Amino acid sequence: MKVLITGAAGYIGSICAEALLARGAGVIALDNLSEGHRAAVPPHALFVHADLQDRDALDRVFSQHRVDAVMHFAGESVVAKSMREPSTFYDVNVGRGLNLLDAMTRHGVNKLIFSSTAAVYGEPQMIPIPEDHPKNPLNPYGKSKWRFEQLLADYAEYTGLQYVSLRYFNAAGAAAGRGEDHRVETHLIPRVLEAAAGALPHVEVFGADYPTPDGTCLRDYVHVTDIAEAHILALQEIERVAGTAFNVGNSSGYSVLDVIRAAGRVTGCTVPWQSSPRRPGDPGILIASAEKISRELGWQPRHSSLENILHTAWRWKKAFPCGYRSETTVRS
Ligand code: UFG
Repeated sequence: MKVLITGAAGYIGSICAEALLARGAGVIALDNLSEGHRAAVPPHALFVHADLQDRDALDRVFSQHRVDAVMHFAGESVVAKSMREPSTFYDVNVGRGLNLLDAMTRHGVNKLIFSSTAAVYGEPQMIPIPEDHPKNPLNPYGKSKWRFEQLLADYAEYTGLQYVSLRYFNAAGAAAGRGEDHRVETHLIPRVLEAAAGALPHVEVFGADYPTPDGTCLRDYVHVTDIAEAHILALQEIERVAGTAFNVGNSSGYSVLDVIRAAGRVTGCTVPWQSSPRRPGDPGILIASAEKISRELGWQPRHSSLENILHTAWRWKKAFPCGYRSETTVRS
């Protein structure tokens, strides 16, 4: 089995590439390195430095390799950036995604696992959120991912595409030699750990007036290695479950203050924090129902306790304090 991974130098794509290689698959790792890191790509993957808008590069990849399936991680994913630059999100997450689908169609490749998001739901009308919950995304990020999910259904009808959309809740944690390293870090857990390490004076807590027990947002944090496992199971079963969307979450919600307190326990360090206004585009509560992926794919969040998420993220931070720029050894 040979899998093309787009966004393979990114946080989730690189860890998924590592998981596929460990199971004996061949991996072609495509990335434009705008956000990803060359050092994140596992050495046994074949790296292709290309952008999804480069039709010739895509044609070369599909002509030179017998690709069985594609895992599509490449995309823009920071909610706050999407509020400032919506057109970038429609260009990258929809337009360039369509270039990929067209290249797959030209070359007769019809299996795709798509990285979608809990942001497609918007402010939930019920908790936990099932996959058939109404889709009212609050920000261009969620809207762009929902548009692309809808386009996948069109392609399935017109081209015979077999796809699965995986709607991640809050991806977090790290594998042994790979973790989260964004050029501009906006995510809660890495920022909390930066504050624990003294690299940030304090964490800002965005909003204390949400309708939650302590007034701060509740999120469903799911370990990145559990997300990788969901991709592998979805690919194994794609013929049976084609055309399906699955939530990938832990079915438990933790507030921003819960995360700060747990990080204090795991690191043994004080995590200074300050209240700030709400961040535009943030829903108050996002908690997955993971019943469908458990029933249909047998997936379980085995590594997703908040303690383990923070422990692995902290281990990564201590081993690689500057992320992939700390790289001195070859990763397997
Ligand atoms: N937060 C803070 N301070 C910070 C950073 C975040 O209080 O410095 C809060 C946010 O307001 C939010 C929570 O912590 O309530 C989590 O924020 P993140 O930025 O870590 O993650 P998001 O929930 O905004 O978004 C993430 C992914 C999206 C995905 C979403 C689904 O980035 O791709 O989870 O839940 F859509």
